[in-house]
Amino acid sequence: MNEIMTSCVTHELTRESCVALDDQDNLRHARERFDLTDDLIYLDGNSLGALPRATAACIAEVIGQQWGRDLIRSWNKHHWISLPQKLGAKIAALIGANANEVIVADSTSVNLFKLLACVLQLPHVGDDANRRIIISERGNFPTDLYIAQGLNQLLGNRFTLKLVEANEITNSLDHTVAAALITHVDYRTGHVHNMATLNAAAKVANTNIVWDLSHSAGALPINLNLDGAEFAVGCGYKYLNGGPGAPAYLYVTEKLQAQLATPLSGWFGHAAPFAFAAEYSPAVGMNRFLCGTHSAIAMAALECGLDTFENISIAAIRQKSIALSDLFLQLMDEYCQPFNFTCVSPRAHESRASHLSFAHPHGYAIMQALIARNVIGDFRQPNLLRFGFTPLYTRFIDVWHAVMTIRDVMRTEEWTAAQYQTKNIVT
Ligand SMILES: Cc1ncc(COP(=O)(O)O)c(C=O)c1O
Repeated sequence: MNEIMTSCVTHELTRESCVALDDQDNLRHARERFDLTDDLIYLDGNSLGALPRATAACIAEVIGQQWGRDLIRSWNKHHWISLPQKLGAKIAALIGANANEVIVADSTSVNLFKLLACVLQLPHVGDDANRRIIISERGNFPTDLYIAQGLNQLLGNRFTLKLVEANEITNSLDHTVAAALITHVDYRTGHVHNMATLNAAAKVANTNIVWDLSHSAGALPINLNLDGAEFAVGCGYKYLNGGPGAPAYLYVTEKLQAQLATPLSGWFGHAAPFAFAAEYSPAVGMNRFLCGTHSAIAMAALECGLDTFENISIAAIRQKSIALSDLFLQLMDEYCQPFNFTCVSPRAHESRASHLSFAHPHGYAIMQALIARNVIGDFRQPNLLRFGFTPLYTRFIDVWHAVMTIRDVMRTEEWTAAQYQTKNIVT
């Protein structure tokens, strides 16, 4: 695959060369794991992963048999009770963690709240009146910033949230920092932070980073253990294909688990939930980060999403992701140059994850016109068209057709139609 990819991205590109890339693609078979039709070009798996083929039957079984017939017995009989740990172990394998360091629970936002609160309660933070800064990035995903603001308010505004630019984070990590909330991959541009470098800087400053892996897990290699990460959270519904609103996950390095106290001390995080004691006593290990009863249906859907990675290495995913996004960039350069798109993603593929964003003054309307033509990406404020490349199911020919459709929509000025000008609630 490599040779052909290299030759195609360095020479003139044709539809035939894209077909040849698909023919040589080692991951070609993985598309069969998804319920996708050929008439749709789906470039938004970075926002909502496509439906795995196994999910519908699996959910039908969970609802019909497990819930319908076995009823409450399913918590034991079908091991509903251990789904957070079982799925945590599957995610751990994708992010370079040990199975006992990841658990599935709640949403990313809720998990951010839990872990940031844990960090702010650590003795070296709480006891040090000089450590009162929470660092985050100005362009971070808003929920990360909102959670920090809300938690700080709850703590009587003892901390100050300081927002810095991506390239200022390392230097900002000093002895005044109580915690840093860093999103590994920028949701707008796809820029990737160097996790090892930032963790090393945090260590020198004796501070802790909570990583948000929402746009990274399942898209590129992540080595939480090797890179010295201590805390992380992430989404289940993007590259992990767990379905809309899928449960999220959290990671805590083993050596710190025992000293952390979650602020959401629900009964599922208790050492013995079914002892029904009046007093809260945290479970050992990651179980303490659970809060309340999980949805067995949503967990089952997430498991189907995670199983789409079976026998596929993240290295192979990354290789194809780079080839797909390089191809898209090159085709945009060749065919859409007259139309005033500005690529805001890093052009060097080693600095970006698996999506590309282009600024255009009419970005929203153009994206609506593309979606009407069955080329699905999304729009992000203020003017960005975002295209995600999920190597498990995106084909090289999809990339070709997507760029040809963009060219067409621009040439014909289709996007100027009235129906594309009004913004929907979800963009
Ligand atoms: C970086 C990042 N964090 C968090 C979220 C969402 O969190 P939640 O699942 O709690 O809505 C998103 C959603 O797109 C995201 O991009």
